[in-house]
Amino acid sequence: MQVSATVQEVKAEIDSLAASSVTAQELMSAMVELLHKRMLKYNWVGFYMMEAGAQPPVLVLGPFQGAMTPHARIPLHEGICGAAASTGKTVVVDDVTKDPRYLACSLETKSEIVAPIFVRGKVVGELDIDSHFPAAFALEDQTLVEHCASLIGKKLEKSPV
Ligand code: SME
Repeated sequence: MQVSATVQEVKAEIDSLAASSVTAQELMSAMVELLHKRMLKYNWVGFYMMEAGAQPPVLVLGPFQGAMTPHARIPLHEGICGAAASTGKTVVVDDVTKDPRYLACSLETKSEIVAPIFVRGKVVGELDIDSHFPAAFALEDQTLVEHCASLIGKKLEKSPV
């Protein structure tokens, strides 16, 4: 039987990925793969990035693991994703059926977390994770997801691709 890794184990693995990846794109792809594979309740893991120069601003689907989503482009006034990007705050939703902002990606999704990515203080994208389990994201998960988002922000500050 496959056992979910602990948050501490995964954080250490993510840190070593960040040290060995050259570009943000490379780190984003490896990160979604690792989180999806090692954390068994993270059933969809993906990035949405702000489209450069888009007016009005829009989030565009980046590297992801899990089923294809119908939401490849999300305006900032829509969804949990739009809420996290427009406020610059992590959003945790324990029961997506009770949140009117929620845009359905899969009928199996029960809970969701979205953490913004900052480059020099500005939101440039976000890390979005859906779970088939209600209230899957505890404080330690939030800390891990925000850590992942901040590693991408730092990598983007060094090399903007
Ligand atoms: N549920 C998100 C949409 C993206 S999918 O989950 C991949 C939202 O409400 O913004």
